[in-house]
Amino acid sequence: MSPRNSFKLRIILLALASLITITSALSSESRDQQPLRSHEESKFSVGFSLQSSYGAAAVIFEGADGRLRTHTRVYEPGYMYQQVMAKLSLQSSQHIAPPYDDDGEFWADMPRRGARMALKTIGLPASYEVGVLAQAIKHLRSQLESDFSISISEAVFTSSHLLALYQDDLEDVAVDVGIKYVTPRYQFQPILWETAAAYAGYGFGICKHWRDEGRCWDEESTLPDTTVLGVHYSHNALTVSLAEVHTAFSTWEPNYRRTENFTLGSDAISGYSSPKDYWADVKGALLEIMDKYPLFNRPKTIIVTGDVVYGNFMNFLKETLNDYLGKLPPILSADAKVVSAMGAAEFMRRC
Ligand SMILES: *[C@@H]1O[C@H](CO)[C@@H](O)[C@H](O)[C@H]1NC(C)=O
Repeated sequence: MSPRNSFKLRIILLALASLITITSALSSESRDQQPLRSHEESKFSVGFSLQSSYGAAAVIFEGADGRLRTHTRVYEPGYMYQQVMAKLSLQSSQHIAPPYDDDGEFWADMPRRGARMALKTIGLPASYEVGVLAQAIKHLRSQLESDFSISISEAVFTSSHLLALYQDDLEDVAVDVGIKYVTPRYQFQPILWETAAAYAGYGFGICKHWRDEGRCWDEESTLPDTTVLGVHYSHNALTVSLAEVHTAFSTWEPNYRRTENFTLGSDAISGYSSPKDYWADVKGALLEIMDKYPLFNRPKTIIVTGDVVYGNFMNFLKETLNDYLGKLPPILSADAKVVSAMGAAEFMRRC
């Protein structure tokens, strides 16, 4: 058999294998169907967020009386996931990806897209990274589905804003999980990053009367332009971005106003000979963008996300920013671990 034919045969076998998996999954699903519970009768909206070292999910239930109940879940997928996020934060992992600047990029990106398409066609994740990220979402999805007896078919996704994490990665995560990737309406950028999602999760940058489009536009036109310092601190990463925000949808945080450092998370401290050196590096990262662009607007609000947002770090953050800015702007950090997933769920509710 020629190598070409054996390759074809392998593809066919793979396709058959995935078909069998899919059919058996479908049949077990119908077998396990449970009687309707109260949750299934109320409307719900789901948001997922992929953070540096963990994934989070939020579901908002909307009762018949209009009352909202929000539940969240967190899942720590472990080492492989953290490695993937770290890799996607590196400049060396960057590549051409949609949205393109011109049609030259479109053609240049064709082979990469083709390869991803081929994998998806036979039921595999579009890339290794997509597969690892999708596992985290699958876990969160089953957790929500079993905890609340719901069946999730669509969601809004958000993630840490990493240099080499692209829109098609998130879309392909949704494909691999088997749920619809929903883009919030009015969104100018194709992807919803953590800072914007967290801002909305705290109730900022979104209108109150969203069911009435005209009223919503009016409300949003009166929202102030503001500058937000988005800080993410977890076991494996420290990221900082200086974002310009009008509505949450129009949040603008270009690459040059962000730092992503996967060697400055809280676990890294043990690798330093003295904690002082560690905190000096943390300080450097926190102030890097503001140092580089002294004439850029100073932050009016600070949003902190992540899973180590307490104790030493918070004290250090407050002290550092207070010294640097002369006063401490309001810090939003109450739901640090899950607030971006909550924002994504809120966007889903408004879709
Ligand atoms: C992360 O921080 C360390 C310590 O300040 C620094 O040496 C390293 O270059 C930084 N990495 C990136 C990717 O900025």
